[in-house]
Amino acid sequence: MIYQVYVRSFLDSTGDGIGDLAGVRAGLPYLKKLGVDGIWLSPFYPSPQHDHGYDVADYCDVDPLFGDLAEFDLLMTAARRLGIRVLLDIVPNHCSSEHPWFREALASPPGSPARARFHFADGRGPDGAEPPNNWHAMFGGPAWTRIAETDGRPGQWYLHMFTPEQPDWNWRDAEVPAQFDRVLRFWLDRGVDGFRIDVAAGLFKHPELPDSPDPEADARTRDSVNPLAWNQPEVHDVWRHWRSVCEEYTARDGRERLLVGEVSVPSAREHALYVRPDELQQAFFFDLLSAPWDADAFRKVVSEAMQDIAGTGSTVTWVLNNHDQVRTVTRYGEPATDGSGLGAARARAAALLMLALPGAAYVYQGEELGLPEVVDLPDDVLTDPIFRRTGSRARVRDGCRVPLPWSGQVSPFGFTSGAEGVRPWLPQPEYFAEYATDRALADTRSFWHLYRDGLQLRRELPQLGEGDLRWLDTPPGVLAFVRGDGLVCAVNFATAPATAPVPGTPLLASGPCPPGVLPGSTAAWWIGDL
Ligand code: NOJ
Repeated sequence: MIYQVYVRSFLDSTGDGIGDLAGVRAGLPYLKKLGVDGIWLSPFYPSPQHDHGYDVADYCDVDPLFGDLAEFDLLMTAARRLGIRVLLDIVPNHCSSEHPWFREALASPPGSPARARFHFADGRGPDGAEPPNNWHAMFGGPAWTRIAETDGRPGQWYLHMFTPEQPDWNWRDAEVPAQFDRVLRFWLDRGVDGFRIDVAAGLFKHPELPDSPDPEADARTRDSVNPLAWNQPEVHDVWRHWRSVCEEYTARDGRERLLVGEVSVPSAREHALYVRPDELQQAFFFDLLSAPWDADAFRKVVSEAMQDIAGTGSTVTWVLNNHDQVRTVTRYGEPATDGSGLGAARARAAALLMLALPGAAYVYQGEELGLPEVVDLPDDVLTDPIFRRTGSRARVRDGCRVPLPWSGQVSPFGFTSGAEGVRPWLPQPEYFAEYATDRALADTRSFWHLYRDGLQLRRELPQLGEGDLRWLDTPPGVLAFVRGDGLVCAVNFATAPATAPVPGTPLLASGPCPPGVLPGSTAAWWIGDL
């Protein structure tokens, strides 16, 4: 299990209201206690923070907001000592408009080698005033922005699949892959255990940059379906090459270097191509995260993954939460604020289901506390560029990024070491007091204990290791499967109680679970002979 650390919201050691690398180091013992195998750190590189670090101005340094390279080295040493692996977030599809190469491109003429590292093109229409094609950006608006040439006249356009501050690299230009080789080696030489790869189905675009066949559909979907802008076959060569770089390091010291891709593609079969034996070891299978709370929907997702991904010998990588999505507690139910509502019960059950599945699991910080989404942040504190670009609150991602509560009754709940009056970069609601880590650790009924116990059993029980699963016959609304030689996991998606598939007291349950009964919105594990 890898724990996703969203650095700016984890723990602030410098007292400016923003989490940092020293804060992550201070939080490592907490994560060790929880039982994580590793952490994935969200981007901490120098960046103007238009998309919270997913706009990288320098791939080989630390933004002073988060620390410096010396602090990074201290974090690595501390993590190694605790046996926690560290994955960095690498962003190869785009950089920041403040990256020196993009600045150089702006200062260079059309057709120059500096422009060839990005996608610059002349506009359409008599004055070139129309974008070069009809592509949409993921965060709203057209995927092209027009620049002023050095003489001040309106000039070429550049491509950005996200915000205008995130120009897309042109991976067909040899300097781009060569640069990323240097970046990989820079961090591998510093001891990292691998990378989470941002937008891993991106990078290459159709070489002619033709119009999308269905721009309306592209605009509607958050995960763009434009088949000319995403999921091009050439990207697989990059992952094969990156894997070979990682293997080179592994060959030196026997330590595995892990590549996990953020892969959003139309089907599990397409997904499986990214985790072929010589490509990425893992790729997030987001279908579980997007499934509604429904037994049939969950069963379909798990079956497809087992058949199309695990069936080819690859690992399935499960995820229920991340820094881009509404938290499960809220997504699965009414926005419960006291941790006892339906959403919370379902989120707990989903966690037990995920931890019982074969493959890797990723947990997003705060998930282990049962934090709900903060749904009522005022407009003036929202920082997500999606809000700025679309004016719509519907998709904003700030609500899952509110800084963690660690202790105490009032904000900042131990999040910042700052003097009184220092506010966390996003306001924490009063009810976060209920979720603070000190309370969670002290209460054996908390989410934290469920995750901790589940992770411990996952490590101890051979049935929960590699291998397949076998579905059991169950009444509608209930799912149950067997792992190995008899670990049974059952989930009751309905609200009414069902008969448990195994008699006796469960090994672990997401809620009160008397022998023989599986209450509604509850999951449990048993050792049974089925
Ligand atoms: C996916 C990341 O998870 C998200 O936070 C980011 O905004 C986009 N990629 C663009 O880098």
